[in-house]
Amino acid sequence: MSHPNRLRVALLGQAFMGRAHSNAWSQVGKFFDLPAVPVLHTICGRDAAKLRAFAARWGWRYFSTDWRAVVACDDIDLVDIGTPNHLHLPMAKAALAAGKHVACEKPLAGTLADAREMAHLAAEAKGGTGAGQKTFVWYNYRRCPAVALAYSLVRTGKIGPIRHVRAFYLQDWAGPDVPLAWRFDRRQAGSGALGDLAAHIVDMTRFVTGQEITAVCGAMAETFIKRRRVMSGSAAGGIAAGLKRSAKTGKVTVDDAVAFLARFSGGAMATFEAARQATGNQNRNGFEINGVKGALRFNFERMNELEYYDATAPRAVQGWTTILCTHGGDHPYAAAWWPDAHIIGYEHGFTNMAYDILRMLAGKAPTVPMPDFADAYQTQRVLEAAAVAAAEKRWVKLSEVK
Ligand SMILES: NC(=O)c1ccc[n+]([C@@H]2O[C@H](COP(=O)([O-])OP(=O)(O)OC[C@H]3O[C@@H](n4cnc5c(N)ncnc54)[C@H](O)[C@@H]3O)[C@@H](O)[C@H]2O)c1
Repeated sequence: MSHPNRLRVALLGQAFMGRAHSNAWSQVGKFFDLPAVPVLHTICGRDAAKLRAFAARWGWRYFSTDWRAVVACDDIDLVDIGTPNHLHLPMAKAALAAGKHVACEKPLAGTLADAREMAHLAAEAKGGTGAGQKTFVWYNYRRCPAVALAYSLVRTGKIGPIRHVRAFYLQDWAGPDVPLAWRFDRRQAGSGALGDLAAHIVDMTRFVTGQEITAVCGAMAETFIKRRRVMSGSAAGGIAAGLKRSAKTGKVTVDDAVAFLARFSGGAMATFEAARQATGNQNRNGFEINGVKGALRFNFERMNELEYYDATAPRAVQGWTTILCTHGGDHPYAAAWWPDAHIIGYEHGFTNMAYDILRMLAGKAPTVPMPDFADAYQTQRVLEAAAVAAAEKRWVKLSEVK
């Protein structure tokens, strides 16, 4: 039976995000004061032998290979989805129907149709016919202190009206030796760099600017490596490390890279670029936002830092300032972690998000706004607009993308 001071979590998926989320749920109570304590109830995947070891290592009470039984179980309050994109809809649908809160990995879904249905089901579960359930989407980069600080600097008028947004998410892991994992299969992933990487920078720039993208044009998508060796065995817990190849090859059905131009509702022009073979960029995820009074710059590879340019300072001393976002009280989330300049890492964004989920489920405000299914559906519409613009080589207004 549900208890106001605890939240029983079932996590679906036990590889890369399985580890990131398991860590977040197990660390959050050690660093934050929580309104309710998460209980690592059940971990779910496909390989029982691996699950047994995973559950023991991360502290899950139970494990299962039957996600349908898990999401329907009376002992679960929140279903956390960390599986490939085509499974997000069926898993979220079953969990919402069973009265659970749902936290789902990004992108919301592989396709716009799935995402639309998920947004609809979430709206019903929240109000309408549901039990007031809440939904959350793991756009975790919002919860890097530097990105959350950028959000608040924009709101306090530090950079003034925004003219330019330049967003990039560049990786270089997808060379020819990487086998045909689910990320290269349209049926499972929906798209490639677009849904995997551009999704994050569309979310992050919507979040920081507080504006919606109204139109997309000048889009290109490219698949450089058309066939890959079929994978043997299962995911290893990272993006591609440790994946094994068989002799057979299969067709890659998603993009390796995508780029597009966009217009924001406040009038800013934007460029977006996402790539999996951008040699030299291992996880260069970030933005530069230029306003009339100042500018902001973020690159996840130096995630503790936010760069700020104050164009209202005397010209003689104008220049980029690098802010180390580790000062508790001034920088979001920093008070929960370590003393000044004792920097944090990738996993902390997930733990910060687990904290905000627990706050919201207790009726409290999150540190900075949290994307739910309705919000993540807006990001998905932008991804769809980019896909259509690339395929049809034309301007696509967001009003066309329902
Ligand atoms: N927020 C982020 O920064 C971030 C980073 C990586 C991945 N993701 C997202 O997380 C999701 C998972 O990605 P990943 O990298 O962890 O993938 P992965 O391949 O590492 O893991 C997928 C997991 O899903 C499990 N799974 C697949 N089918 C299943 C089924 N029918 N029943 C139960 N379990 C099943 C697999 O066994 C595996 O444990 C994707 O939606 C991806 O886009 C988000």
